[in-house]
Amino acid sequence: MNKKTVRDVDVKGKRCLVRCDFNVPMKDGVITDENRIQGALPTVKYLMERGAKIILCSHMGKPHNIFTPGFGLNKKEKAALAALPAENQAAAKKEMLEKAVKKDLANLTLAPIAKRLNELLGNKVAFATDIVGEDAKAKVAALKEGECVLLENLRFDAGEEGRDEEFCRKLASFCDIYVNDAFGTAHRSHASTAAIVEYGFVKTAVCGFLIEKELTVMADALEHPVHPFVAVLGGAKVADKLNVISNLLEKCDTLIIGGGMAYSFLKAEGYEIGTSLVDDSKLDYCREMIAKAKNEGKKLLLPVDGVMAASFPDPIDAPMAFVIKKVGEFDKNMESLDIGPETCKIFSDAVKSAKTVIWNGPMGVFENPIFAKGTVAMAQALADAKGATTIIGGGDSAAAVTQLGFADKMTHISTGGGASLELFEGKKLPGIECLNDKN
Ligand code: 3PG
Ligand code: MG
Repeated sequence: MNKKTVRDVDVKGKRCLVRCDFNVPMKDGVITDENRIQGALPTVKYLMERGAKIILCSHMGKPHNIFTPGFGLNKKEKAALAALPAENQAAAKKEMLEKAVKKDLANLTLAPIAKRLNELLGNKVAFATDIVGEDAKAKVAALKEGECVLLENLRFDAGEEGRDEEFCRKLASFCDIYVNDAFGTAHRSHASTAAIVEYGFVKTAVCGFLIEKELTVMADALEHPVHPFVAVLGGAKVADKLNVISNLLEKCDTLIIGGGMAYSFLKAEGYEIGTSLVDDSKLDYCREMIAKAKNEGKKLLLPVDGVMAASFPDPIDAPMAFVIKKVGEFDKNMESLDIGPETCKIFSDAVKSAKTVIWNGPMGVFENPIFAKGTVAMAQALADAKGATTIIGGGDSAAAVTQLGFADKMTHISTGGGASLELFEGKKLPGIECLNDKN
C-alpha cells in the first residue's frame, strides 16, 4: 500500500474529518450488525488518544436529499405518482414529500450511531443535527482535543452524491486533515469520499486503519496468493460479477460458481434449469468464461445438483416442500434455490485443500433454513481449510457467515460489499486513489 495513513501525519490539536462507513443494517432503530462500527474504532481511538479534534461523517442508506431545498421523489415514488390521475398528482406529490422527510429523519438519521459510539468511546461524541449547517459549525468549533462530533447523514444533502463544490468546500472548512476510513464506500466517488480531495479543498489526505487492513489483506491475497487459490462466487446475478469472474479466472486455480448465477452457466451449457434464476442476456458471456477457464488451464466448478421447490419462498423463511435433483434432471416447472448435497461435497473438497480462499455471494436462499445448507457447507469448508487465508467479501456473504456463526473462523470479513467486489475486479477505488501517496 503506497498511501499515507494516520500514522504518517501529526494529528495533535488538528481537526480531522474522518469519513466512516456507518451504513449499518438497522431494524426498528436497533443496529443489527455493528461490524462497520467496530471496524472504525481503531482509527477513532488512535486520533482521540493523540489529541486530535475529530469530525466523523457517514451516509446511511439511500435517503431523499431532505436537507436540499426542492429535493425530489425517488424512482419508485415517481412511478407511483405517474400512475395517479393527473388532477390528483400535485396534492399527492406534496404528501409524499412530507412523508419522505418524516420517514428519512426517523429511519436514516445517524443519531443511533452517535449513541452507540458514546457507549463505546466513553461519551466523547457530540451529534450534529445537520451536516454543514449552524449546529455542525458550532459543534465543530467547540471541539476540544480528544473529542468527536458526528455529522448527520451526508446523503440528506444532494451535494454528497452530486459532488457539489460548495458542499465540499463547507465540509473541508471543518478540517485540517482528511482521513478516509470508509472502506465500504471507497468505490463511490462522492463529495466526502473523493471529491473533497480531488477539488483540492484539503491537501492532507490519508487513510485510516480499516482501509489499510482491508487493502493489505485483500490485495495481498489477490496479488500474491499462496496456492492453491480457490475463489467462490455466488449471489443472484451474473451481471453483477462480470469483471469479477473474468479477473479471478486469471488469478485463481479453481473458480467455484454457485448461487443464483450458476443457473445461467448451466443453461449456457445446454442444461434444463426449470424456473431457476437466469440472465438470458449473459449466456454468451458465460460460454466465454467457460472457454477462458479451459484456455487458462483453470478449474471452473458448477453445481451438479440442486434443491428445487415449486416457487420462491414467501415470506423468505417460510417452510416449503423441496426435492433434490441432479443437473440434467431438473424439473421444468421448479426452481433451484440451493446447491445440492453432491455439489456441497465437490465444492467443499476444493475449498478444504486450498491455501487461499476468497468468497463472495451465498450459494442459495440462506435466509431460509431449507435452502441454507449449501451456504453453511461452504462456511464450514472455509472454517476447515487448515492453514489457509480465508477472506469473505462484504455484503450478503459477510451477513451469511456472521448469521450462521462462523465469523470468528475466518481470516478476514470485509466491511465492504461493492468495494471488495471492485477490488476483486482489479479496479482502482476512488476513495483510495485520491489519498496522498507515501513519499
Ligand atoms: C454499502 O453498504 O454498500 C456501502 O455503505 C455503500 O452504500 P451504497 O451502495 O448505497 O453506495
Ligand atoms: Mg451497496
